[in-house]
This record gives sequence, structure tokens and C-alpha cells, in this order.
Amino acid sequence: MTTASLSGRKVLLIVGGGIAAYKALELVRLLKKSGAEVMSLLTPAGAEFVTPMSLAALTGHPVRQALFMPEDETAMGHIELSRWADLVVVAPATAGLIAKAANGLADDLASTTLLATDKKVLLAPAMNVRMWLHPAVQANVARLKGFDGFHGVAVVGPDEGEMACGEFGPGRMAEPAAILAAIQGLLTGPDGRPLAGRRAVVTAGPTFEPIDPVRGLTNRSSGKQGYAIATALAELGAEVTLVSGPVALDAPVGLNRIWVESAREMQAEVQKHLPADIAVMSAAVADWRVDGVASGKIKKAPGGPPSLALIENPDILAGVSKPGKSRPKLVIGFAAETSDLEANARAKLSRKGCDWIVGNDVSDDVFGADGNAVTLFTKDGGADVWPRQSKTEVARKLAARIADHFKA
Ligand code: CTP
Repeated sequence: MTTASLSGRKVLLIVGGGIAAYKALELVRLLKKSGAEVMSLLTPAGAEFVTPMSLAALTGHPVRQALFMPEDETAMGHIELSRWADLVVVAPATAGLIAKAANGLADDLASTTLLATDKKVLLAPAMNVRMWLHPAVQANVARLKGFDGFHGVAVVGPDEGEMACGEFGPGRMAEPAAILAAIQGLLTGPDGRPLAGRRAVVTAGPTFEPIDPVRGLTNRSSGKQGYAIATALAELGAEVTLVSGPVALDAPVGLNRIWVESAREMQAEVQKHLPADIAVMSAAVADWRVDGVASGKIKKAPGGPPSLALIENPDILAGVSKPGKSRPKLVIGFAAETSDLEANARAKLSRKGCDWIVGNDVSDDVFGADGNAVTLFTKDGGADVWPRQSKTEVARKLAARIADHFKA
């Protein structure tokens, strides 16, 4: 059995109805022990075998039980929950749940969540041996495994042995330790961590350029998109350094955040953390700084406001993109534009010498928002339009593209 840490990984556990449901409690305990965060969803049939109280106590989170519960939907809606997870596990997966999933039925919370998720699903089937061997169940499992272009279904078990009903054969749910090993394989194996062994440097947030000790020039940026990208890269196994300007965001777990203020500090930290395989420069760097920062507070004077002499800041992205032995294999910039997105982004891509550029139309509710609409332009002429979605989803898409790039 593998012992890979699941620290920072999120598992949504759907507990179906069956005598094996009691083993789901042990599975939660093992998952928590290996560092995973677990949320659970209990079907009405599942609730005949284990109580929501046990699941809530072990997971440390409220248990979701019904599709139409206003108080649940205001906390984390079931669609959001299905996206929150890195992996959805169904244990026990009954013949009924498998049939619904295989046929796209969505008439309750569990089946709706299974249809809505954009993550891999691990099924731990548990049912009577005749049921398991029934061609309808076998066809449903095969159907789920065969869906093309789908994020995928994996199956662990069932085991062979004596069953609660007294019959013998395959149908017993896999033991919790075996389900845990399957989860670890999916989340931390080559499939789950395709960027393991890769180093990434990500810039995020604005920079702040002082005028005097109390004033400064800055840019509009919450840092949310850059932080989400750093997090998504770390989730895929990359070793990430996040060089961040002043933002009000907590440091994501599992990566190295370095605080900076000015563009020159940001540039120095980026350079210090090269070589790297991947550079994503998402910071909104102030293009200019004040020439001759005043050592004391500039006072209002009868002659009117002072005039500020500005000088250009170094271009961090262009510097990182320069050919040389410390150039990352993949350099990605951002183009924040208010008009002519494609033309401006492509011009920026070639001017700065990066490989990809994320074109970001900032004319429409982007700063500080949780959603973003972007187009990824690549040096070879490609353009991938990603309509408005959460910044986390944009980040995960970008991280997946980066992983594909290295796989190829
Ligand atoms: N960038 C950088 N260093 C700078 C300015 C920008 O690294 N001094 C990076 C940003 O992090 C982003 C990309 O360059 O990845 C484009 O930033 P943007 O502000 O859109 O472009 P500018 O170079 O500032 O061009 P312009 O202001 O003319 O649009």
C-alpha cells in the first residue's frame, strides 16, 4: 500500500445505501489521517446504514443529504461542491447509483453531483454477487469507463468473499485501505501529479512604487488569478514559488510565497528563483516608478501639487523570456487589454518573447472578481477561448494545458 500524503487534496465522498456503508466511516478516518480534506454526501438509502452525525463528526463538515435544501445551497451549492473536490469517491457504489451515473439520470443529490462534476470519479461497488455479475450492471460500468473525452471513472473492487446476505462471490466493497490506496494512486500518481519534479515561478498581484513614505503608485489587481494559478500548478505536483505584490490573500498551502513591493524587488526575486521549468507572469506590474523617491512626506505647498518625474520599470516578463540557459522551458505572460484583445495580445507575445499569453479583457468586471474570461494565445498561432468561469477553473485549465505541454 502506498503512503503518499494527501495534504491539501480534497475528496468528496458519496455514501450510497448498503451494509458496506459502515466501512465508509473508516475510509474517512484514513483519508483524514493522510491529510485530505473530506466532504460527504449521504443518500437517503445510505442514511439507513450510517448516521449523518458520524460522517459530520469524522469529516468535520456538515453532511449534504438532499438536493433542495436552501441552507445547504447557501453554504456551498452542490455544483460548487462537485467542483471543489479534486476527486469524487462513491463508496459504497450501489447498482442503482452506477445505473444512474451511466445513464445520465439526475433526480437526486448524488446523481446530480456525479453528472455535474468535472473531476474523476472513483467507484467502490458493493452489492450482491448476482447483482454485480448481472449484464446490466457490467454494461453500466463498462459504459461509464468508455465515455470519450470524459474526465474518467475508475473502479476499485469489488472483492470476492462471503457476503452479508450469505452468498459468496464478487460484490463485497473493497477494504477502506484498498480504496485509500486507489485514491492516492489517482491523486498523487503520474495521473494526478503530472507536474511532479517541475519547478514553477508565478508572479501575482500589483506592485507598489513609492512616491514618499506614505504614498505610492500601484495597479488594480487583487492577485486572485495569479494565486489560483500557483495553487493549480502545486496541485498537479509542481514545486511553486509565488512572488506576490501586496494583496489581501492568504498564502496557498503547499507552496513558497515571497512578498515583494516594487517591480524591481519582484524582478530580483523572480531571477533568484530561476532556473525553473515554468514561468507564469500574471502580476500587474507598474510600468513606471517615481524618479527620486522623497525621504520625507511631501507636504502640500502654496505653489500647487508637485510634479512627479517617472522612469520606466524593468520588464520582468521580457527579461525572463530572453534566450539563455536560465530561460524557463515555458514562459507565459498575461495581456490585460481593454480593446482589440487578439491583436494586442499577439503583439505583446512577440514583443516580450514569451511562449504563450493569456489575453484578458479587463473592460468587464475582472478586477477583484471571482470570475474571468480569457483567451490563451500560443506562439504557434493557436487560440483557445475560455468563456467566463471562475478564476480557479481558468487556473486549473491553464495548469492542465501546461501539464499536457510537458507530457508532449
Ligand atoms: N510585465 C512585466 N513587467 C513589467 C510590465 C509587465 O513582467 N514591467 C508582464 C505582466 O506580468 C504581464 C505582461 O507583462 O504578464 C503584460 O502586462 P501588461 O500590463 O498587459 O502589458 P505592458 O507591458 O504593461 O504593456 P501596455 O501597458 O502597453 O499594455
